[in-house]
Amino acid sequence: MTKPTLSVTVDGMHFLNPFVLGSGPPGTNGKVIKRAFEAGWGGVVAKTISLDSSKVSNVAPRYGKLKSRENGEVIGFENIELISDRPYETWLKEFEDVKKSYPNHRLIASIMEEYNRDAWQRIVKEVQDTGVDAFELNLSCPHGLPERRMGSAMGQSPEITKEVVGWVKEVAKIPVWAKMTPNITDITRPAMAAVEAGANGIAAINTILSVIGVDLKTLRPQPSVEGYTVPGGYSAQAVRPIALRHVMEIGRALYGKASISGIGGIETAEDAIQFIAMGSSTVQICTGAMLRGFEIITELNSGLEAYLTEMKFNSITDFRGKALEYFTTHADLVERQRAAKRDRAGQRSRDDEWSGEKIKEQTAALTSE
Ligand SMILES: Cc1cc2nc3c(=O)[nH]c(=O)nc-3n(C[C@H](O)[C@H](O)[C@H](O)COP(=O)(O)O)c2cc1C
Repeated sequence: MTKPTLSVTVDGMHFLNPFVLGSGPPGTNGKVIKRAFEAGWGGVVAKTISLDSSKVSNVAPRYGKLKSRENGEVIGFENIELISDRPYETWLKEFEDVKKSYPNHRLIASIMEEYNRDAWQRIVKEVQDTGVDAFELNLSCPHGLPERRMGSAMGQSPEITKEVVGWVKEVAKIPVWAKMTPNITDITRPAMAAVEAGANGIAAINTILSVIGVDLKTLRPQPSVEGYTVPGGYSAQAVRPIALRHVMEIGRALYGKASISGIGGIETAEDAIQFIAMGSSTVQICTGAMLRGFEIITELNSGLEAYLTEMKFNSITDFRGKALEYFTTHADLVERQRAAKRDRAGQRSRDDEWSGEKIKEQTAALTSE
């Protein structure tokens, strides 16, 4: 058998491997993005940018951790970080420079704007002129920006999602992914609205609204900024089952109609494989790379390659989406279990026929004259 390939083509874009750094600190400027490509990542979604960075003011501390009681490992992570506070013009120069230096790696610009058609169309036109490969629309940041009716305030409304994606698609010449918020009852509604408006792909999930904890001595919620806080976005291993469920729902609603980029709590090749089985063509990793470093790409690539070899798959397309058909209703589970019990009972009574004690009589009873 020939060696399996890790590469994948999504919305016309060729990725050397399906591992993409998710928008956030791992893609915070051109320098770190270059380092990520050097380390072997197939793609990077840069930190989200907007036209006017002067409106963005970050605070510190802005992260909080949930640790395992057993060994202190970080299993959950909260952030109240906003989008990039670096000047827009600086980003335009850096996108151009990164693309020139790394033509074989996919650079995806994450953009966010206010509810204003001109603003969205201006950022799309100017950023695509830098040569980036695709856009990811941040319709999903759960904290800070919704106060300005941006981020998840948009993604929670299928109508606004459709309108904004429509504005973007009027001027975009490159693929557009819409990034969804999990802070909603039915994630398929904005996802389907985005696809109806022409989105090529859906990225999910952004972070889950959370409160990481309260300091028992001061009774101040964390992370504490001058004694106060806001609910933040939860990520890392602990969110993976919730993310998988959202991706499953998007996959069942949209697989084949739009590409999916699976995100949420992925740290190992085994984690990533599960998102691919749920329909993802690429997977994004943010907190895992912050906690464990860019070097994890080496074990992600080798782990995926070992899996493909063991399963005799040529590429991820051989198993992509394969787990989706095994979700059903609870009533159907009950029916399947009853049918299985009936089969087993039938098997038992047939086995009784062949107990071995009266084999001659049993043979005769089953033989035609
Ligand atoms: C510190 C931090 C900053 C983030 N900033 C952004 C951002 O600017 N834009 C965005 O779309 N998502 C942002 N995210 C969300 C991640 O891209 C990702 O959707 C989420 O963290 C779940 O994936 P993970 O468990 O691999 O981190 C951020 C996450 C973290 C932890």
